Amino acid sequence: MIDLKEKIDRSRLPNHVAIIMDGNGRWARERGSHRIFGHQNGITSVRETVEGAGELGIKYLTLYAFSKENWCRPPEEIDALMGLMISTINSETETLIKNNVRLMIIGDMQNLPAYITEKLNEVAGLTAGNDGLTLIIALSYGSRWEIAGAARRIAEDVISGKIEMEKINENTFSEYLLTKSIPDPELLIRTSGECRISNFLLWQIAYTELHFSQTLWPDFRKEHLYKAIIDFQKRERRFGKTSEQIKCD
Ligand code: IPE
Ligand code: IPE
Ligand code: MG
Repeated sequence: MIDLKEKIDRSRLPNHVAIIMDGNGRWARERGSHRIFGHQNGITSVRETVEGAGELGIKYLTLYAFSKENWCRPPEEIDALMGLMISTINSETETLIKNNVRLMIIGDMQNLPAYITEKLNEVAGLTAGNDGLTLIIALSYGSRWEIAGAARRIAEDVISGKIEMEKINENTFSEYLLTKSIPDPELLIRTSGECRISNFLLWQIAYTELHFSQTLWPDFRKEHLYKAIIDFQKRERRFGKTSEQIKCD
């Protein structure tokens, strides 16, 4: 078997990989089971991906775990997802610490039950000093909500005289987003064959390479991550320039 990991050029790794983990419901349906069974099986994929990214030396991994739109799902599914969130964080805290992973959360915390936010904040605090992989969980996250919030916070700071309106630029705007200390993703993976962004990191993915995988999330393993990185490394990122200009840089 070809060792995919060996095919990765370690000197050109994406600094930040973001993943829309999709397809749990379909995975369960294919097995005649309830959607929740799919979510439960998606945890192994999360573990594999975090481990795989850490082993490669990727610096940032963002996982889209629950969108603001997902609050419209049936209450029993939401309860199951929150339960899975808390049990996973409880069982994985030690591993995160041992593997030097720093946990960060982005999303609308107001909407989340207190027992979840308290636990997540606690683990984020415990791992804040780790300098290996930064694992960012997007939870109750919506990009338009994040952007509107940034606009509101900028307006507040203009009114209070903290910043001058004329000085607002793209960098200022990035500083007001929840991802302010995090570089933009270089690679975005979506599983399950859906080719859409679903309100994820709209500002941050302006120049991100997109990789759509047919694999349903509960089947996603390190090899799938490696494949996406190999695909990323074959691409020429031009940022508006010509191919000739890139080669001279
Ligand atoms: C992704 O799988 C998990 C979440 C959105 C929480 P889905 O639950 O969306 O699975 P499909 O898309 O219905 O198969
Ligand atoms: C996007 O998946 C959100 C997460 C993966 C958390 P969805 O399954 O909710 O997306 P849509 O609604 O099909 O676009
Ligand atoms: Mg889905």
